[in-house]
Order: sequence, then C-alpha cells, then structure tokens
Amino acid sequence: MDNLSRYRGKIWLVLCLFFVCWYFVIHNVKWYKFSPPTTVFRRPVDDIDSTTTYLAAARSGNDDEKQGGGGGGSDEKTNLVSIDGEIDWVHDEAQVRALEKELEPVLQKFKPKPMEKKKQAVIDKEFEDERKPKPKERRVNETLIDRVAEQMGGTLTRRSACSGRYIYVHKLPSRFNDDILEDCRSFNKWQDMCPSIDNMGLGPKLGNPQRVFSKSGWYSTNQFLLEVIFRNRMKQYECLTNDSSIASAVYVPYYAGLDVSRYLFDHNTSSRDALSLDLAEWLHGRPEWKTRSGKDHFLVAGRIIWDFRREIDDDDAWGNKLMVLPELKNMTILTIEKSPWHNDDFGIPYPTYFHPRNDNEIVEWQNKIKRQKRRSLFCFAGAPRPKMEDSIRNEIIEQCVASPRKCRLLQCSYGNLRCQQPVDVMKLFQSSIFCLQPPGDSYTRRSTFDSILAGCIPVFFNPGSAYIQYLWHLPREFEKYSVFIDEDDVKVKNVSIDKILSRISTKKVSEMREKIIELIPNLVYADPRSKLEKFNDAFDLSVKGVLKRMDYLSKNTSSLDFDQKFSWKYLLFGSVQNHKWDRYFRYSMNHKVKKQTEMF
Ligand SMILES: *[C@@H]1O[C@H](CO)[C@@H](O)[C@H](O)[C@H]1NC(C)=O
Ligand SMILES: *[C@@H]1O[C@H](CO)[C@@H](O)[C@H](O)[C@H]1NC(C)=O
Ligand SMILES: *[C@@H]1O[C@H](CO)[C@@H](O)[C@H](O)[C@H]1NC(C)=O
Ligand SMILES: *[C@@H]1O[C@H](CO)[C@@H](O)[C@H](O)[C@H]1NC(C)=O
Ligand SMILES: *[C@@H]1O[C@H](CO)[C@@H](O)[C@H](O)[C@H]1NC(C)=O
Ligand SMILES: *[C@@H]1O[C@H](CO)[C@@H](O)[C@H](O)[C@H]1NC(C)=O
Repeated sequence: MDNLSRYRGKIWLVLCLFFVCWYFVIHNVKWYKFSPPTTVFRRPVDDIDSTTTYLAAARSGNDDEKQGGGGGGSDEKTNLVSIDGEIDWVHDEAQVRALEKELEPVLQKFKPKPMEKKKQAVIDKEFEDERKPKPKERRVNETLIDRVAEQMGGTLTRRSACSGRYIYVHKLPSRFNDDILEDCRSFNKWQDMCPSIDNMGLGPKLGNPQRVFSKSGWYSTNQFLLEVIFRNRMKQYECLTNDSSIASAVYVPYYAGLDVSRYLFDHNTSSRDALSLDLAEWLHGRPEWKTRSGKDHFLVAGRIIWDFRREIDDDDAWGNKLMVLPELKNMTILTIEKSPWHNDDFGIPYPTYFHPRNDNEIVEWQNKIKRQKRRSLFCFAGAPRPKMEDSIRNEIIEQCVASPRKCRLLQCSYGNLRCQQPVDVMKLFQSSIFCLQPPGDSYTRRSTFDSILAGCIPVFFNPGSAYIQYLWHLPREFEKYSVFIDEDDVKVKNVSIDKILSRISTKKVSEMREKIIELIPNLVYADPRSKLEKFNDAFDLSVKGVLKRMDYLSKNTSSLDFDQKFSWKYLLFGSVQNHKWDRYFRYSMNHKVKKQTEMF
C-alpha cells in the first residue's frame, strides 16, 4: 500500500511537469516558424484564385505597379489576406527560395512533373512527341563512340546516335555575317543597336531589378537579333559534321535581316539586293548545292518575311528580294513571321529577354510566375497605328481605357521610353491575367512571347498572329493556351473585351495558364554558351522541324504541288478546302507590305 501511494505521487509529479512544459510551449513559441512545409508545398501548384486576387486589387483601387517591389504597402496586405484568409508566408522570395532548396526532396513528391502531365493533357500526339525529354543518346560521348567505331572498322555506331540529324554548316565568307556586325550603327536609324550584339547576340545583361526577373539568364535582347543567337547556338549542336555527304541539312549562316536593315529606309533597290544576289551566286557555285539543288539548305531570317519579299524592282517598294530569288525558293526559310501564301518559310519564336543556362533556371522561373499575383484582368502594351486604316489598335486602347479597374495600358506612342524597358513590360505582363496581342505593323508581335514568358494568357484577334505561324512550337489546339476574339467584331465595336474575358471561368483560366507555363521552355532560346539537358528550347524544336521537313522533301518531291496561296491552311489543317478563316488571308499580289518601324 505504501509503495502504491508513493507511486501515485510520482505520477502526479510527472503530470504536473508535463502540464507546465505544455503551457510554456503553447504560449512562448511562435509555432508558425516551424510550419512552413505545409504552407510552402501548397504554393508550387497554381492555386491562386486569380479572380479574387484581382478583385481585391480593384477594391484597393491601386493601379500603381508596386508588385514585386517587396515594399509591403497596404494594398499588398489586402491581397495577401484575400487569397485564402491566411498570412502569406511565401512573400519574401529569397526566403522561399532558400526554403524550397532545403525542402527539395520533400517538395519533389508534390510538384507536378511537367513531362508526365503533358502526356495526358495533349491530344496532338505528333506535336507532343517532338517535345519529349531529349533522348539518352544526346549525352553519349561521341568522341568515345567514334573511337570504338574505328576499332570496329566502321561508322555504324556513330550513325545510330546522329543518323538523320547531321547538319553541315556552310563556311561563308565573312561579308555575309561577321562583317555585317561591324556595321551595327546602321541597323537602326533611331537607336544604337551595337550593344545588342554583346553576349553572342543576347545583348546587355539585365540583372534582376525590382526582382521582376529571376537570379540570372536575363538580357536586354533586341527582337531582331535571332540570326546571331541562332548561329551561336548552332555551334553547340551535337550532330555537326564537316562531311556534307552525310548531312541531312545544310545551314547557311547569313545575317539576312541585319543585312537588309541597313538599307530598308532610304536606299535604292540595287543596294538593298546586292548582298542577297551575291549569296545566291556563291551558294549556286558550291559543290554542296549540286547534290540536291539547295533543297537541303536552310537559313534563319531574324526579321519578318515581308522585309525580303519585294516582287518588283521599284525603289518605292519595300524590302529586298532575297526570298524571291530562284536559289532561295529551293531553300527552307525560318523567320519570326512567315507568309501565309508561301510554303518555303516557317515561323519560329521571336527571342525574349530570358536565356536560361540550364534546366533549373527554367524550373525556377516557372515556379516564380506560378505564384505571381495578377492584379488586372487584362493589359495592353503598344501604340496606336493612326496611318493604318485596318488597325484595331485604337479600339483596343479605347476599350482598355474604358475599363480602368480591369485593364492596364502601357501607351507606347510619343516615345514613351518605358515601353522599351524590359522590366516595365515584364512587370505589366506578370501582373495581368490576359495580354492583348492585336496585330501591329504586321500580323505578329514579339510581345506575344514576352507575355507567355510572363505567364499572361495571350488574346489574339487575327489567326495570322500565332496560329498559322509557329506550327513547330505552339500546339494546334489554340484554345488551350489563348483566347481568340475576331478583329472584325472589335472593329465594328460589336464586342466588349472586358465582358468576354470576365466570363471565362477561374478553372479555365488556371488550365490555360498552366499550359503556357508548360510551353515556356519550348519558346525561349537558351544561352548559346551552354546547354539544356531535359528541355527542348526554341532552337531544338526549330532544328527538329527543319530535319523533318528535309526528310519529307527528300522522300516526296511532288508533295508541294498544291497552290501556294493556300499553304497557310494546308500546313495547319492538311487541306485546302474552304475555311472560315479565308477572309483573313485573301491573297493579293499588291499585298500592302507593312513597314515594321515601331517596336510595339
Ligand atoms: C569523351 O571521351 C574522351 C576519350 O575518353 C575524353 O577525352 C573526353 O574528355 C570525353 N568527353 C566528354 C565530354 O566527356
Ligand atoms: C570541322 O573542321 C574544323 C577545322 O577545319 C574543325 O575545327 C571542326 O572541329 C570540325 N567539325 C567537326 C564537327 O568535325
Ligand atoms: C543606288 O545607290 C547607290 C549608293 O547609294 C549608288 O551608288 C547607285 O548608283 C544607285 N543605283 C541606282 C540604280 O540608282
Ligand atoms: C531548284 O530545284 C529544281 C528541282 O526541284 C531545279 O530544277 C532548279 O534548277 C533549282 N534551282 C536552282 C536555282 O538551283
Ligand atoms: C456582331 O454583329 C452582328 C450583326 O451586325 C451579329 O450577327 C453578331 O452576332 C455580332 N457578334 C457578337 C459577338 O455579338
Ligand atoms: C507525296 O505528296 C503527295 C501530296 O501531298 C501525296 O498525295 C502523296 O501520297 C505523297 N507520297 C508519298 C510517298 O508520301
């Protein structure tokens, strides 16, 4: 009995101590300091209710671009709470990144794997096949394979790694590329483009002002520098060969756009055409030309195709006649804007400001913009086109101004320098749900790619702006990544952009946003000084497209006998039957060639 009561006393003591500890812990320890795991792995999944966020922003009535500044003003608090009634743990990005790094093994389980998702989500199988992770062979050490192959007395092994993918690069005289760069002062009358050539064509480094971008990989890239970036990227291509007889494609590293940009505005046709004629003659005289009459040759033009398709020899007509020369007609042309009426040119993305050096930089950026707070429903960065009768830019601007709480406008006329500041443009796009992309001087805009990069869903008004352009890079199911509003309806003031966009469900919005964030790696050009392992960037997909076309052409020479005027629908739908988009692409020889003089 004595024993038992002593025992009971001890139990009380233990319970007492336990209670004291528990009391102390509850009242003195800040629990949230230990709890980030639960809050953080909620974030990488895009669960921000954009409508709520946007409404909160509208309520706070602050149109100012403060987001990303980290100041934490009163409007920010409204937003933070509005998302889900919790304090926003992930507000400090540096802290989050550090945390994420620490928790990487844990988070990995919760993050959606982009590659797996893709397979379920997309119907167009062929398109998806193109962007599957790079094959293992890619990383095979080819020097080693060659050595083994030599010992085996054949090239069989090597062929299996690069077979059908060899590219021969023409060794052009420097007047066709390097010398042109010496002339950089004459590329643009209004702006010195010489600094844009730095860093292999990426331009000056941007750093990360206002923490709008990510840690590294950001450059002030000029929209017309693709030729230089592409050529430098090609130097890294894993299946280059010096033996043109085994090559599937022949790359002609001529800076076509930079060449013509020197003469576009006030030179006669003979000076505009001089180097193009020179190139055609040079190519024609080469042994590599003879094998297939140039059908295996390709060239990258970093300006819109209309700068190279002058049909008449008149000093008042626009551009040079590079693409109408017989030699070039046998070649494949990659350009930032293709013609709907020709089947030898192919659209590839404009360069953006982001040039990742590795896969991680892409994933890091994708995660950042998934978490982005988007305060306006839609936005527009651009200038009106008062001299263009058909332009809907005026209506776009009017509609934006009429919805000040939902639309944000970056007016680019009257020399507004902010439009040329990558940080201002990207900040605007990162804080909007939709980005309006009406045609400018021509169908396409660099802005389309900037907006996708910022996770802002593009709104198109003409199918020529993207759907018929970038067949190798964008899915054919355009409704999965964009919104289409007929430009004719806008023109007759028959539609309210605000109403159309407001009606799109939150679920649909996040699906579309997820899709474009998934597309980002395919639309950026990686830093030419390094290599991506897992992702296919815009260069990789362009090369795949070229090789596929070369393969097709070599098998089927009669395949392109259809009327070229219909090539836009043949390439998109595989048929030349009447289509509801015909009215957008009425062919005329006198097609008013538009001068691309404005950035926006
Ligand atoms: C490939 O193998 C060769 C021979 O073993 C070696 O010298 C070279 O460094 C290797 N290259 C790479 C990229 O691993
Ligand atoms: C092609 O030849 C040049 C020298 O003429 C050499 O530097 C280069 O490495 C060769 N390229 C390949 C892919 O063999
Ligand atoms: C074109 O311009 C160049 C230099 O500006 C001049 O030398 C040439 O004579 C001009 N050609 C014609 C046909 O006018
Ligand atoms: C273009 O290719 C055709 C064969 O398809 C050939 O007859 C023609 O000579 C080539 N043109 C040039 C300029 O080589
Ligand atoms: C635009 O107006 C036309 C008649 O002018 C009408 O048939 C059409 O349905 C309208 N479109 C929209 C989207 O309201
Ligand atoms: C070649 O192309 C034509 C036209 O597209 C097509 O009808 C024909 O089946 C193709 N032939 C082969 C062998 O692919």
